[in-house]
Amino acid sequence: MVLAEHAPGHITGFDIFPAFIDQFNNNATKLNLQDKVKGVVRSMDNLPFQDDALDLIWCEGAIYNIGFERGLNEWRKFLKPGGYIAVTESSWLTEKRPSKIEQYCLPHFPEMDTIAGKITQIQKAGYLPIATFVLPSVCWNDNYFTPMVKAQELFLEK
Ligand SMILES: C[S@@+](CC[C@H](N)C(=O)[O-])C[C@H]1O[C@@H](n2cnc3c(N)ncnc32)[C@H](O)[C@@H]1O
Repeated sequence: MVLAEHAPGHITGFDIFPAFIDQFNNNATKLNLQDKVKGVVRSMDNLPFQDDALDLIWCEGAIYNIGFERGLNEWRKFLKPGGYIAVTESSWLTEKRPSKIEQYCLPHFPEMDTIAGKITQIQKAGYLPIATFVLPSVCWNDNYFTPMVKAQELFLEK
C-alpha cells in the first residue's frame, strides 16, 4: 500500500495464503487503491508474467521461501531493461558470530550470509547492485516481535 501511494503504475501482490490476500485486498479498498493494487493467491515460484514485463519487483522478507539465489535468478527475466528489484534478506552484519546464534539461525535461513556475500549473489544473477541498507531494529522489535507476543497469546488461547 505504501508503494502504491508513492509510485505510479499497477501493482500485483502475491501470497500463497488466501487469508493474507483477502486482507491485502481489503486494505487496498480501504485506502481507495483497489484500481491500482490487486492481490492474487499464487506461489512466487510460478509467477504469471511475460519476459521484460515489469518495472519493479518488490519482495520484502519473503524471497527466502524459494531461496535468495533461486528467486533472483528466476525473476530476472521478468524485469524490463532498466527495471529494478528490491529484496530484503536476513544477513549477518559481522564476519564472526557467537555459535549459538548461528546454530539458531542457519536451520531456518540456510542461505544466510554477509551483506557482501549477498551483493556477490545479486551481481552473479545478472543485476547491477545499486544500494543496500540495514533495516533499523525498530522494524523488527516494534513492528514484529512485540505484536507477535500478543498474537501468540491469542493463538494459544484459541
Ligand atoms: C515473513 S512474511 C513477509 C510478508 C510481507 N512481505 C511483509 O513484509 O510483511 C513471508 C510471506 O511469504 C508468504 N509465502 C510463503 N511461501 C510463499 C510462496 N511460495 N509464494 C508466495 N508467498 C509465499 C507467507 O505466506 C508470508 O506471508
